[in-house]
Amino acid sequence: MTYKNISIIVAVAQNFAIGKNNDLLFHLPDDLKRFKRITTGKALIMGKRTFYSLPKAPLPNRRNIVVTDIPGENFPGCESAGSIEEAISLVQHEPEAFIIGGGMIYRQFYPLAGKLYLTLVHQDLEADTFFPEIDFNDWREIAREDLFDEKNGFGYSYLDLVRK
Ligand SMILES: NC(=O)c1ccc[n+]([C@@H]2O[C@H](COP(=O)([O-])OP(=O)(O)OC[C@H]3O[C@@H](n4cnc5c(N)ncnc54)[C@H](OP(=O)(O)O)[C@@H]3O)[C@@H](O)[C@H]2O)c1
Repeated sequence: MTYKNISIIVAVAQNFAIGKNNDLLFHLPDDLKRFKRITTGKALIMGKRTFYSLPKAPLPNRRNIVVTDIPGENFPGCESAGSIEEAISLVQHEPEAFIIGGGMIYRQFYPLAGKLYLTLVHQDLEADTFFPEIDFNDWREIAREDLFDEKNGFGYSYLDLVRK
């Protein structure tokens, strides 16, 4: 079952690496601006480890939903969900809700999401957390922008993909 109102947003390397030591793999200011532009005003669903990795949480001007198995843990300014199903029901009336990580949460939502907003770095990176392998045949590209970041020294693309 695919949820048309559930989108994934992720910055991923060529080898599907997304994180190390509960942090991101690179600092890419333009990507952070894109993340803010796309998600502001929307509902966000994140795993507990991602919540604790945010420099400043909750993310302002957005509904922040934290998924955790531990009932009663308090996440200031956030809602919490005890399962993927509960998170989905919390956003059922949202026109678009965003899965913002991390690895555990992406793995469970990847088969369910209707749209992917990818920042794809064109090189492999060393990591301890990975996105599921994307079969690009399953997705239709609706937007693409190719860029190069001088500071990081890598090329990357913004890709908007909808499930075929
Ligand atoms: N590149 C990117 O775009 C991006 C984006 C976000 C995060 N990241 C990176 O990803 C890494 C964090 O990912 P992660 O896989 O370690 O952790 P995570 O997915 O952020 O959070 C995992 C936690 O979420 C809860 N959880 C997950 N599935 C659940 C379920 N079905 N029911 C109830 N609770 C559930 C559990 O919390 P409890 O232990 O409380 O049960 C689990 O420990 C970091 O390195 C971060 O920087 C990268």
